[in-house]
Amino acid sequence: MMNNIITLDSRPVGKPQLSNFKFITEPMPQAGENEVLLKTLYVSVDPYLRGRMSDSKSYIPSFQLHEPIESGIIAEVMESNHKQFSRGDFVSGGLKWKEYQTSDGTGLSKVDAKAAPLSTYLGALGMTGLTAYMGLTEIGKPKAGETIVVSGAAGAVGSIVGQIGKILGCRVVGIAGTDEKTALLKSRFGFDEAINYKTTKSMKDAIKEACPDGVDIYFDNVGGEISDAVMLNVNRFARVAVCGAISLYNTTEVQKGLRLDTILVTKSVLMRGFIVSEFAAKAPEAIKQLTGWLKDEKLNYSETVVEGFKNIPEAFLDLFEGKNEGKMVVKI
Ligand SMILES: NC(=O)c1ccc[n+]([C@@H]2O[C@H](COP(=O)([O-])OP(=O)(O)OC[C@H]3O[C@@H](n4cnc5c(N)ncnc54)[C@H](OP(=O)(O)O)[C@@H]3O)[C@@H](O)[C@H]2O)c1
Repeated sequence: MMNNIITLDSRPVGKPQLSNFKFITEPMPQAGENEVLLKTLYVSVDPYLRGRMSDSKSYIPSFQLHEPIESGIIAEVMESNHKQFSRGDFVSGGLKWKEYQTSDGTGLSKVDAKAAPLSTYLGALGMTGLTAYMGLTEIGKPKAGETIVVSGAAGAVGSIVGQIGKILGCRVVGIAGTDEKTALLKSRFGFDEAINYKTTKSMKDAIKEACPDGVDIYFDNVGGEISDAVMLNVNRFARVAVCGAISLYNTTEVQKGLRLDTILVTKSVLMRGFIVSEFAAKAPEAIKQLTGWLKDEKLNYSETVVEGFKNIPEAFLDLFEGKNEGKMVVKI
């Protein structure tokens, strides 16, 4: 039996293509001394992987050409020569896009399949849930009665941000790219208002109308023109948590937009980018809180589950087309 692997075959210019990925095989690996053999069960595809496919210097190393891609993965321990893991354990970690792989346990943590569905450890109870919690509470610092605007609102991070905002007593307005998504934001996730940025003529006016008291917190997942429109509606002492800029990830030229200087100064706005790992020390507390809200049914999540190892690259590309609702995961 051969093992399937997906490598980075070429670096994308602009939008990534299927041709940037390559499927290869290798003989099945076996667990060595102090190692486990892992079988991949769920693969997380995430917008930040686009950055790792390029060779520009960033907070996380680039993928090497002709080497396997890596992302968050949930795997089952098939064999164990490692004292901390037993056959049948489920683990989460940054692992390679391989159907089977060995690990010395570095960066692996056990997950409890009885406490929550395994895929949630990649989403609501994983990296994207943590990102939502940390960005909103540490930078947004919401107070009851304030207004939060979330872009990329129907995605993995955005859908959790909005719900935490509601739990904390805020008015929450979401921005997303289809009518199905804006309906979902209100019906399933409890957002007060939702705006479809693809069919709205003036985002600036639509945000003004949806936020009669102005915007106190902007949780930005997308950047670009959507953010320009939100920034024209911020209140004095607003906080802007810059989580991501997916609208700009595939651009090949430096983009120009609204000059923010006057708004930031005259309105005393705090605008702060962040990477979720900055808040690693607070992660256990955050996961405990998110788990509690899920159990109490205060927090909902949705997932778009694509099936099959061979469909991982396409699921990743689909993030840039908005084909996911909630967390995009691939079930192997
Ligand atoms: N700072 C951190 O530590 C951290 C951690 C995780 C994620 N992030 C960032 O947070 C953002 C959301 O990540 P996620 O994992 O939750 O992804 P996601 O929102 O589940 O998926 C991406 C979504 O982005 C939207 N989108 C795609 N192209 C767009 C464009 N040109 N303009 C506006 N929206 C566009 C699509 O929704 P529509 O249909 O609504 O367009 C798509 O569904 C990303 O920017 C990501 O890089 C940051």
